Amino acid sequence: MMQFENLVLESENGITVITINRPTKLNALNKTTIEELHQAFDAENKNTATRVIILTGSGEKAFVAGADISEFANFSVENGGKLAAQGQKILFDFVEKMNKPVIAAVNGFALGGGLELAMACHFRVASANAKMGLPEVTLGVIPGYGGTQRLPQLVGKGRAMEMIMSAVMIDAETAKNYGLVNHVVAQAELLEFTKGIATKIARNSSTAIAKAIEAVNANYKDGTNGFETEITNFGACFGTEDFIEGTTAFLEKRKADFK
Ligand code: COA
Repeated sequence: MMQFENLVLESENGITVITINRPTKLNALNKTTIEELHQAFDAENKNTATRVIILTGSGEKAFVAGADISEFANFSVENGGKLAAQGQKILFDFVEKMNKPVIAAVNGFALGGGLELAMACHFRVASANAKMGLPEVTLGVIPGYGGTQRLPQLVGKGRAMEMIMSAVMIDAETAKNYGLVNHVVAQAELLEFTKGIATKIARNSSTAIAKAIEAVNANYKDGTNGFETEITNFGACFGTEDFIEGTTAFLEKRKADFK
């Protein structure tokens, strides 16, 4: 397995946990961490042994407390734009388009780029102590890693507008009420609980799941008709070994064994 400065990767039973490991900086996303996350996600996407990825932060305090403010404090207009463009391309859009499920296990503060990273994952589970917000306007900037787009998609425009304009942090229960996270569990149980969901996912057809991710994402892509993507991807499934195994197993009254 690859070695990283700011990440720890652990794999078991087809589930890979990627832990962002910069606890003294509350796992803030500096350039190195963003690049390492890209490398790790790219490698896991290609790793046939990996079926589900869980992303979390090290320590009991933070998932990710945002982009590393110390790195961009003196940026120009041009550099600011490039920072957002490059980050969206190699990490945030990249994660969203992964063909394997990516679950964020939000174990504490998920602020700014941290919440944006959690939102780029396919869904989120939070610990009871988690706090989420987009505090960028307190710094004189706006969310630049997809927050103005993905937050309204997840919680609705009005709630997103309020969160972005007020910069307030919401607690885990509020995030669940908003639909921003699917489950809230005690911090000590967060990883096991999330692995439980991952285990259920890992039993299913990975080729079908990849097609489903693409079809769901199609609704959020300009100039794409999601229903058409669904039809195309539905049809494509009929040409897969998983489809033969899944339907055969059902008719033979046994559990499917997907490769
Ligand atoms: N970028 C860079 N460093 C960060 C950071 C960030 N986004 N968030 C936290 N850190 C660093 C702090 O500078 C501090 O480093 P130091 O010990 O070298 O001084 C360390 O992480 C611990 O953070 P600290 O602020 O001391 O912890 P706290 O418990 O007092 O406060 C927060 C926790 C999350 C409320 C606070 O760290 C914070 O507001 N962070 C910035 C959040 C933000 O605006 N993110 C959006 C960025 S776009």
